[in-house]
Amino acid sequence: MATVSLTPQAVFSTDTGGVLGSATILRFPPNFVRQLSTKARRNCSNIGVAQIVAAAWSDRPAARPHSGGGGGRGRGVVSSHAAAASAAAAASPAAEASAIPNAKVAQPSAVTLAERNLLGSDASLAVHAGERLGRRIATDAITTPVVNTSAYWFNNSQELIDFKEGRHSSFEYGRYGNPTTEALEKKMSALEKAESTVFVASGMYASVAMLSALVPAGGHIVTTTDCYRKTRIYMETELPKRGISMTVIKPADMDALQNALDNNNVSLFFTETPTNPFLRCIDIELVSNMCHSKGALLCIDSTFASPINQKALTLGADLVIHSATKYIAGHNDVIGGCVSGRDELVSKVRIYHHVVGGVLNPNAAYLILRGMKTLHLRVQCQNNTALRMAQFLEEHPKIARVYYPGLPSHPEHHIAKSQMTGFGGVVSFEVAGDFDATRTFIDSVKIPYHAPSFGGCESIIDQPAIMSYWDSKEQRDIYGIKDNLIRFSIGVEDFEDLKNDLVQKAMSF
Ligand SMILES: Cc1ncc(COP(=O)(O)O)c(C=O)c1O
Repeated sequence: MATVSLTPQAVFSTDTGGVLGSATILRFPPNFVRQLSTKARRNCSNIGVAQIVAAAWSDRPAARPHSGGGGGRGRGVVSSHAAAASAAAAASPAAEASAIPNAKVAQPSAVTLAERNLLGSDASLAVHAGERLGRRIATDAITTPVVNTSAYWFNNSQELIDFKEGRHSSFEYGRYGNPTTEALEKKMSALEKAESTVFVASGMYASVAMLSALVPAGGHIVTTTDCYRKTRIYMETELPKRGISMTVIKPADMDALQNALDNNNVSLFFTETPTNPFLRCIDIELVSNMCHSKGALLCIDSTFASPINQKALTLGADLVIHSATKYIAGHNDVIGGCVSGRDELVSKVRIYHHVVGGVLNPNAAYLILRGMKTLHLRVQCQNNTALRMAQFLEEHPKIARVYYPGLPSHPEHHIAKSQMTGFGGVVSFEVAGDFDATRTFIDSVKIPYHAPSFGGCESIIDQPAIMSYWDSKEQRDIYGIKDNLIRFSIGVEDFEDLKNDLVQKAMSF
């Protein structure tokens, strides 16, 4: 009987005539063994085989000695056919090499390509980091498999104890970790130059988990006036319940920051840069020095920049947050968030998150991982188109004012130039008209979707006075959200098409 071994975990017999499609599987991962009857296994197609292979763990040798109990349950239990096949393969070095493709058998502790300095640029990191030698899933697939499981099983109590004491590498429960998500976290860490990243269910929850884990009850934080409204609402309504007070400064007001640091025991300065929706920029290096001299942490919400345009950790920030819903995932199809930084800090967020929940679904992790492979291409395209759009709008008589960090007219253009490598894909502007003219503008354009969110492949346009602040004229006045403000998130469409759409449809008022 000839045997074909595709991976250390799955061995096939070709005794049906060498046709893989009808091959009998001799050894299954135990979960599969448990679930399928013998007849069903005999009839299993290659699709099932692929699923088995996708579920196999590289750090769990298939034929390792089994220390007892469990009968067919144990992963160490190998059918006599499979054992014979393995023995035959081992007898010939060449056969062994083909039977057990070591290059694909990743160990969790394996040196990653990034660590080997092979991935020298964001482009290579975006495509490969986290998914090659470092991943814990051994398959023949180019893509990282989605591991849909809520829990992970142990061979015996000793293995569980070894896991608890760090000698056996695995996962325990879905809220504490997942291999697909772990690959995503590694990719993000590589791009942000972070020691560690924790991925969670949304950008909002990333902020909440970070603030909950790192700001003590009774502490004080500093934040900026211009920011995502829900972040502000969370800070204003929830933090006081833990006795946390807050100083809110204007983005460029460094005297106010110094004053807040001098007069309070500040735990953390949390700011977006660029900010939402006016794209104000905070000098990360300067504020990190100011914070650190007073023992405060600096957390940057870098959602508007993406790690392609700005690496806040390299500029002195302690933590970086992203709404991965935006540029990171990039396809307007998934919600997620992450916190990156030093392991010492991120592990505190991780511990909080493991208790509280807010888990990223593995399918969402896969979508984000897939989206990130083109992050550098999308963001470069969006940077270019947005800059051209901002320049075009600034010159247009129907536009009263443009907010874009790439324009010399922007108040922090000098800061943006020194700490960003691109200015991002969002352009905010005020039309030369009132509420109704602005509403007509938005309703006239045909290519961008009229929707919230930003950073995806599809252009999105909205009037913040309606989309984000419709419930409160008072808040609009406080935060400078005028009736004629438009936020335009540039997608990856052609610049000329987007421009013609504006000119022909929207600028005729
Ligand atoms: C700057 C910024 N941070 C955080 C968030 C929240 O992210 P999510 O919608 O993924 O919860 C948003 C949402 O728009 C945002 O704009």
